[in-house]
Amino acid sequence: MSVAKKDYKRITTKSLIEMKSNGEKISMLTAYDYTMAKIVDTAGVDVILVGDSASNVMAGHETTLPITLDQMIYHASSVVRAVERALVVVDLPFGSYQSDPKEALRSSIRIMKESGGHAVKLEGGKEIKESIKKILHAGIPVMGHLGLTPQSIYKFGTYSVRAKEEEEAEKLIEDAQMLEKIGCFAVVLEKIPADLAKKVADSISIPVIGIGAGGAVDGQVLVIHDMLGMNNEFSPRFLRRYLNLYEEMTKAIGQYAADVKSSDFPNEKEQY
Ligand code: KIV
Repeated sequence: MSVAKKDYKRITTKSLIEMKSNGEKISMLTAYDYTMAKIVDTAGVDVILVGDSASNVMAGHETTLPITLDQMIYHASSVVRAVERALVVVDLPFGSYQSDPKEALRSSIRIMKESGGHAVKLEGGKEIKESIKKILHAGIPVMGHLGLTPQSIYKFGTYSVRAKEEEEAEKLIEDAQMLEKIGCFAVVLEKIPADLAKKVADSISIPVIGIGAGGAVDGQVLVIHDMLGMNNEFSPRFLRRYLNLYEEMTKAIGQYAADVKSSDFPNEKEQY
């Protein structure tokens, strides 16, 4: 079904809920710096996620655990300076919200005040319900994140598909319904069976944004470095590569290095 797109000048949490009820799919991508965010925003992506995946793709860590709140604020403020239309959602990093609701609120307030982001995202369901409620009570919009939650990688032990068993699938549905009930504006579902993701999307009225969760949800998110093919070591089944920037950039940079060595660059026109 093709859907007439409404021309949103600025995306808000309300716009996203409206998109879901109008059957318009939501596009979301990560960005961590000014230049990339400007391109993503100009291209018309609805939501920019300043993901804690910055820990992997920007800093080269193996997991998302090491990135700090200060580093997330630095990335988010660079993104916010570039954006005119998209909603900017910022991940609360590992260790900035798990101890208690007050800590979760303090960290969220720092993100909102110091970066200018528009909303925060947290990983988890009923275990962090009180923290989410506290953040929401302060007027800060919250996006949930269920399924594969990379901050718990050492508990899971693997990045494989989550909620294949009935018990985990049922908990995931309950968690998604709880997130809607307490006032979250959207939820990310990462790496779960497509049938389960559809069931969740059909059972709640807030948008469900999938990554590795099939096409029957309300929107999709990818890590920008992955979809641009900047990283050729990560090839999960759910990833569609739109470019092979790793190859293109290596070629261009290799050519530049060769041109410098051969004194081909700069030529007469490229100097004063
Ligand atoms: O940090 C991130 O990039 C994310 C997405 C994978 C949803 O949380």
